[in-house]
Amino acid sequence: MSLENYSLDTKCVQAGYRPGNGEPRQIPIVQSTTFKYDTSEDMGKLFDLEASGYFYTRLQNPTNDYVAAKIAELEGGTAAMLTSSGQAANFFALFNICEAGSHIVASSSIYGGTFNLIAVTLKKMGIEATFVSPDCTEEELDAAFQENTRAVFGETIANPALTVLDIEKFAKAAHSHGVPLIVDNTFPTPVNCRPIEWGADIVTHSTTKYMDGHGAAVGGALVDSGKFDWMAHADKFPGLCTPDESYHGITYAEKFGKEGAFITKCTAQLMRDLGCIQSPQNAFLLNLGLESLHVRMPKHVENGQAVAEFLEAHPKVVKVNYPGLPSDRYHELAKKYLPNGGCGVVSFELAGGRAAAESFMKRLKIAAIETHVADARTCCLNPATSTHRQMNDEQLEAAGIPAGLIRISCGLENKEDLIADLSQALAD
Ligand SMILES: Cc1ncc(COP(=O)(O)O)c(C=O)c1O
Repeated sequence: MSLENYSLDTKCVQAGYRPGNGEPRQIPIVQSTTFKYDTSEDMGKLFDLEASGYFYTRLQNPTNDYVAAKIAELEGGTAAMLTSSGQAANFFALFNICEAGSHIVASSSIYGGTFNLIAVTLKKMGIEATFVSPDCTEEELDAAFQENTRAVFGETIANPALTVLDIEKFAKAAHSHGVPLIVDNTFPTPVNCRPIEWGADIVTHSTTKYMDGHGAAVGGALVDSGKFDWMAHADKFPGLCTPDESYHGITYAEKFGKEGAFITKCTAQLMRDLGCIQSPQNAFLLNLGLESLHVRMPKHVENGQAVAEFLEAHPKVVKVNYPGLPSDRYHELAKKYLPNGGCGVVSFELAGGRAAAESFMKRLKIAAIETHVADARTCCLNPATSTHRQMNDEQLEAAGIPAGLIRISCGLENKEDLIADLSQALAD
């Protein structure tokens, strides 16, 4: 049952799994690799995509589907699927519509792992990319497109540069070239921004972050808005708009329509062949996180804002990036796209560069050094020596990540305690 007319808070708690009379209140963890059928004909229909149902957990599992349905409702999409990680979600989102010879336009200000995926791994697969500054003009963005461009990619709030994507600008450019906009919405989550409402076609998540929110389970999700008209651009998307011989000649866009084609193809082909499924156990943990997402996000934002304001006023801090600060370059975009705040992640540059950053981080008592963000517990990291170490100084600069930058992810602790911790670590 859809909870379409209920508020986001109610959807966080109740969407997805709606038990019937006498059924378990909690989402059942279907810890089974396979599913039993009475006849080969029954099973054959599943393989022909003539009936919906489960046959093997490498492709689909009911626990995952309950949670994916909740995320689809939260984002305002028509279909969704869970993947083993956020990396897998972004790879699937792009590879579901790109192939050797395709081209992607991507914002240069994105997570290091996604940059590497696009710039190195997809390139090895014959998919080229042009990176554009998120601040580029409409003309510059337009000029990045090629005849073989198949997708545009950006992050609502970029990790770790904290740039805010002008989703409408990127959507307009993508649509005028007949391709979809894919937006990674990991940092704000649908509680603080729903990119589909601004024109995004596909939304991705590292559910490892706020959606889980407790550092318990790596995972990813893809959501289809159901709005992109693949058939209107059939020449660009043969995988969706021409018969798939591996499924008896089904044409996904014809059989499943705008609402279902993208996720059905992604499940039937990419999950079948690449198998990056989320474990049902992790999907269960993810759902526990989703149940309190609407309660946790405002607290992460409150702590992020307080820490950003403290750091901005500190004499040892050269620069603070936090879209919630009126001085921030992205404040106007944040007011538009993130009216209730963005996230609890703040990045800042200390006077004294790398060395100062290292000695500061060593002194912290509450904030731990972790390759992680968006957790209930505050953590911090120096991207240049960790997540972004594959980028050279020029690329780091282009992505807005100076070598001495520290990223702090404000958890759910008391904000005064967090500020006291930072204050003692910054003291002489
Ligand atoms: C914005 C964003 N997208 C994708 C990813 C990759 O997600 P995962 O670590 O779950 O593979 C991350 C990881 O930090 C991220 O921050």
